Formats: sequence, structure tokens, C-alpha cells
Amino acid sequence: MSISTANGIMEQLTCDSTTEDSRIPHSMQKSRSDNHWRALRGELYYASTPEMVRLRKRCSEACRRYNSATDALTRRQMVKMWRDIVQDPRPLPAELASQDIDDVQFEDDPWVEAPIHIDYGTNLELGAGVFINFNCTVIDTCHVSIGARTLVGPNVSLYSGTHPIDPRLRNGTKGPELGREIHIGEDCWVGGNVVILPGVTIGDGSTVGAGSVVTKDVPPLVVAAGNPARILRRIDRLSESPEIVDMDGDVERDSGPMLRASLEDETPPT
Ligand SMILES: CC(C)(COP(=O)(O)OP(=O)(O)OC[C@H]1O[C@@H](n2cnc3c(N)ncnc32)[C@H](O)[C@@H]1OP(=O)(O)O)[C@@H](O)C(=O)NCCC(=O)NCCS
Repeated sequence: MSISTANGIMEQLTCDSTTEDSRIPHSMQKSRSDNHWRALRGELYYASTPEMVRLRKRCSEACRRYNSATDALTRRQMVKMWRDIVQDPRPLPAELASQDIDDVQFEDDPWVEAPIHIDYGTNLELGAGVFINFNCTVIDTCHVSIGARTLVGPNVSLYSGTHPIDPRLRNGTKGPELGREIHIGEDCWVGGNVVILPGVTIGDGSTVGAGSVVTKDVPPLVVAAGNPARILRRIDRLSESPEIVDMDGDVERDSGPMLRASLEDETPPT
């Protein structure tokens, strides 16, 4: 395929089958153009090629189905529609007789409130038990990951895509663009209306305050907030073994894998 670059030069895009992504099934990788691989690698690429437009259209149709689902749908049906958005090929477990018991099979699947808006879906990876509140926007030009048990507030925007600053190179919709990966760790809390910019990594256990614009990496176990987000304070001490009352009213004493690991790493106070 040939496309015009910002300088009007016709560029030949060829299929580069030598570059592989371990997250993507081999059968899907073969069909990717070099332009698409460049996008995933964070290099300049063209977003308006028929291939890229087709990929976004597939995802926007899957999101539209998800966003127009009614409350009458079961957890199983919602999980199936979510896996369609992110193209998760795992088969669903066999359906169990009672819906309540069937729901338990999906308790580790991410819980995503509609509406959600995602560019490609295939570049978004959510860990077990992630919760995303409504009206989240994910520009997943590059890989965007959210670690297990992380909570994302309403109206959060994760922008892994960006454009050249040079207006002649940017050239509106005809110019090339690029992206950088976003990684949010495990056990984080991202407050409402947060914007996370390309290339940002947020460390395990950190909180980002409402309305923040996160322009730089946030280390593990801090509270950061503001525009641009700055560290407000560090989380120096974790509850050693908090008493947690579960939904059945049973009292547990389990601080979870992240907290346990952090406590083991903690240096004793001087
Ligand atoms: C960040 C947050 C968790 C509070 O953290 P905290 O450590 O208890 O912070 P405090 O309230 O003690 O505030 C400390 C300072 O940070 C400032 N601050 C707190 N949250 C802030 C935010 N989101 N943006 C900018 N500054 C903020 C406070 O004004 C205060 O400033 P000061 O020292 O100059 O007075 C909370 O403010 C927040 O943003 N929560 C998110 C709520 C939300 O999004 N809910 C939606 C459902 S998920």
C-alpha cells in the first residue's frame, strides 16, 4: 500500500512479518502492516489508512453494542461483550444453573461501567478485578495496561496517542502520528476526571487525585494530584493486617498480595 507523507512523498508500506508481539496470537500478527507495527512500537505511523480505520471501526462498533446494553443483561453477557471489545479469545466457562453462582465465575473479570470509548481495544490490557467507572476514554494507539484491583473513577482519559509538535509534519489528518505506552500498576486508585498522558507509568498502590493531569511517571505508594500532578505525600505505612468485612459479613484478616509484598520490602523505621 502507498500513502502520502507530510512532504507529499509517496511511501511504500510493506508487511513486516519479522516483528512479533507475544500478546497477540500468531494468526493475527501476520495480517498486520508495517504501518500498524510502527504504531505499536511508538514510531510515526499513519492513522487514516484503510487498515487502521477498519480496526477502529471494529472497536467502536463493539463499544456501541456494550454501551447500549440494558441492565437486563447478565454478567456473563457483559463479560462476553467486553471480551469482544478487547478481542480476548478465551472461551467463557460453561454456564451454571443459577445465575448468582454463574456470576461468581466472572468475579475476577474487569468491571467496566458503560459508556466506554476505546480506539482499538486490542491494545488495552486489564488485570483481575479492575473497576472502571463510566465515561472512560482510552486512546490505545500503543499498549495501555491497568494492573489487578486498580480502581478508575468516572470520566478518566488515558491518552497513549500523540501528534508531532511541528505543524508541517503534523499536517492535520494527512500527517503521521505516534504514541507511547501507558502502564498503571496494581492496587492503584485513579480519581475522577484524571487525564494520563502518553508514556506515563503509575507505580503499584498509588493514588492519583481527582482532576489531575499526569504528565510524568508516578512512583509506587504515593498520593499524587494536580495539573501537572505532583506527589502530595508518600504512603509510608500500610495497615499490617486490616480487618476486612466481606460482603457476607465475615471478618477476614488478609491484606492482599500487593500489601503483603510491600510490607516484606519495607525497611524498618530508624
Ligand atoms: C487525592 C485525595 C485522595 C486526597 O488525598 P489526601 O492525601 O487525603 O489529601 P488532602 O485532602 O489531605 O489534601 C492535601 C493537599 O492536597 C490538595 N489536594 C487534594 N486533592 C487534590 C486534587 N485532586 N487535586 C489537587 N490538589 C489536591 C489539598 O488541597 C491539600 O492542599 P493544601 O495542603 O495546600 O491544603 C482526594 O483529594 C481525591 O482527589 N480523591 C478522589 C475522589 C474521586 O475522584 N472520587 C471519584 C470516585 S473514584
